[in-house]
Amino acid sequence: MEQCWEPGEPGEPGEPGWARPGGALGARGLLALAVASGAAAWATWAVLLMPGFRRVPLRLQVPYQPSSPRQVANALALLRGRAGKTVDLGSGDGRLVLEAYRQGLRPALGYELNPWLLCLAKYRAWRAGYHGNVSFLKEDLWKVNLSDCHNVIVFLAPSVKPPLATKLLAELPDDARVVAGRFPFPSWTPSSTLGQGLEQVWAYDMKEVRREAQGRAQESQV
Ligand SMILES: C[S@@+](CC[C@H](N)C(=O)[O-])C[C@H]1O[C@@H](n2cnc3c(N)ncnc32)[C@H](O)[C@@H]1O
Repeated sequence: MEQCWEPGEPGEPGEPGWARPGGALGARGLLALAVASGAAAWATWAVLLMPGFRRVPLRLQVPYQPSSPRQVANALALLRGRAGKTVDLGSGDGRLVLEAYRQGLRPALGYELNPWLLCLAKYRAWRAGYHGNVSFLKEDLWKVNLSDCHNVIVFLAPSVKPPLATKLLAELPDDARVVAGRFPFPSWTPSSTLGQGLEQVWAYDMKEVRREAQGRAQESQV
C-alpha cells in the first residue's frame, strides 16, 4: 500500500526524527539507541562489575579483568619458595590466591569488594577442597593494613600504581616482595621480571625499593 505524507506533518521524509520503515534510524531513533546503550553499559558497570565500590573514589576504582593462566604462572614463579602471608590486592575470582595456596604459599588471602566475585572465589575454593584454608575478605584494599604481608600480588590499572606505591612503601615490611602484573610500578626498579608483553610480571623487593627511594631523596636535597 502506498504511504502518503502531508507537507509539514511530523514524520515527513527528510525531517529529523523520520525513519523509513525497515530503513536507517532517524535522529530520534539514534538518540534513543544511544540512551539505551548508555543505560545498559551503566547497569553492567554498577550491578556486575563495580557493586560495593560506592565509597571508593572514582580515580581509584579498577574494574575486573581476570589474569590469564600465563600471567598467574609468571606471578607465582616470582614468589616461589617464599614464606609468610600472601595477599592478592583485588582478588577477582580468586585464581591467584588459589594457585598461591596450591603452590604452598600460606596463608593466602584476597581482598575484594565485588560481592559476585567474592562468591565465585569462595565457591572455587570450596570446589578445590581449600575451603577454610584460603580467605577471601570483603575489604577495600586502600583501607587494609598490609604491615604483616610478605608477598603481595597486584594486578591493577596503571593509574592506581603511584598511590599504591606510596601505601606499600609506608606499610610493608622490609623483607616483603611485591609482584605486579601487566604494568610495572613506574618509579621502582624491579629485582626480577618474567614474560613478555601483557604476560610480563615484575618483582620488587621492598628493601631495595626503599634504598633507591632514600637515595633519590638524598640526591634531591644536595
Ligand atoms: C584487574 S582485576 C584483577 C583480578 C585478579 N587479581 C586477577 O588477576 O585475576 C582487579 C580486581 O580488583 C578489585 N578491586 C578494585 N578496587 C578494589 C578495592 N578498592 N578493594 C578491593 N578490591 C578492589 C576489582 O573488583 C577486580 O576484581
